[in-house]
Amino acid sequence: MRADVLPQELIRAKRDGQALSPEAIRTLVDGLADGSLSDAQVGALAMAIFLNGMDTAETVALTEAIRDSGEVLAWADLDLSGPVLDKHSTGGVGDLVSLVLGPWIAACGGHVPMISGRGLGHTGGTLDKLAAIPGYSVTPDIATFRRLVREVGVAIIGQTGELAPADKRLYAVRDVTATVESLPLIVSSILGKKLACGLDALVMDVKTGSGAFMPTPEKSRELAEAIAAVASRAGTPTTALVTDMSQPLASCAGNAVEVREAIRLLTGDGGDGRLLRVTRELAGELLLAGGLAADRDAARARLDRALASGAAAERFARMVAGLGGPHDLLEHPDRHLPAAPVQLAAHAERAGIVQRLDTRALGLAVVALGGGRRAPEERIDPAVGLSDIAAIGEAVDGERPLAVVQAASRTAAERAARQVRQAMTVGEDAATPPTLIQDVIRREVP
Ligand code: URA
Repeated sequence: MRADVLPQELIRAKRDGQALSPEAIRTLVDGLADGSLSDAQVGALAMAIFLNGMDTAETVALTEAIRDSGEVLAWADLDLSGPVLDKHSTGGVGDLVSLVLGPWIAACGGHVPMISGRGLGHTGGTLDKLAAIPGYSVTPDIATFRRLVREVGVAIIGQTGELAPADKRLYAVRDVTATVESLPLIVSSILGKKLACGLDALVMDVKTGSGAFMPTPEKSRELAEAIAAVASRAGTPTTALVTDMSQPLASCAGNAVEVREAIRLLTGDGGDGRLLRVTRELAGELLLAGGLAADRDAARARLDRALASGAAAERFARMVAGLGGPHDLLEHPDRHLPAAPVQLAAHAERAGIVQRLDTRALGLAVVALGGGRRAPEERIDPAVGLSDIAAIGEAVDGERPLAVVQAASRTAAERAARQVRQAMTVGEDAATPPTLIQDVIRREVP
């Protein structure tokens, strides 16, 4: 950090509602990354931003400074045959889009260096799902990561210490100072990490509904607008979709169960449900933004071919094998993926139609089963979760359960079944689920 600038003067300016210059923001982020800013100062700064906000120019400067606080991946020396593309989601339940989208984009000519996270709160994490595959390394060396991105077109791995270290520190302080829910801090945190991956285009899936991190449709829309605007002003064309999370996206939630679902979809065995529709929409936007399709029809046709031909499935198989997983996972998922010892159908108290779901509560039921973490160092049980989750508008009765609990013990299964019954409202009337794709916000680099 610059010796001639007192951080408390910059914090004071933000506290008093002034806009910070890009230089001031960079000085503060340097101090975050090199440790010269104390935890007390980071907390005060976060609270000043939380209370007074940041305008778009400040948020762009904060995003760029976080992006540049560590290594920024560069791909030019690899002479890739297509654009470098990625997707990020604000997180949900039964949201395994990344597992399908990454290989699908690779099969259409893109290169996807996807750095994913672990589960957070009630939401599942792509990394935890992939860790359910025996042998799969989420922390390969950088040479393996780059080789897979070039040769296979996709590698999904975990955060490395070298990418956006300023965010790691800022996020840890926000987490304990009641400053997580701040739009500029959320936008710069998400984008600082994503844009450090050297992308040509990004697509963002902002969830809305009872399982979403943003509490209202207005807030979700605001986040989507801000992400698209800030990312494109920071040099990466970005499309943000607002998609429904008022029920799990897949009919399952957990880790191994979601990998099984991804394999079903990639091998053409998964129908055309909500999950595939959202994944196709996001992937189509990426093909357009990356110049891999001239228009929406061409994007759709290219995606359909890549799925039907088995090319997308083949990319998934090569990624898994390349990162240490089994070579025959697609042919024999049950030979490799763990299964829970106890299965219990959770039936509704009376027959009827599913009216609505508390998706967050379903996610928390998965966490309570051991499929997510209550503390950062907790181990996950990859086998547990929920399967066969009934959708809004579906009839349930003595035969068709609300969901099937996959548990490690009978006691855990019974507790989860109670949670499922509480989370799902059954009534007499027909029920229509909310619109799946609620908004599409496209932003070019100005
Ligand atoms: N995810 C992030 O990476 N950062 C936030 O601030 C919120 C969600």
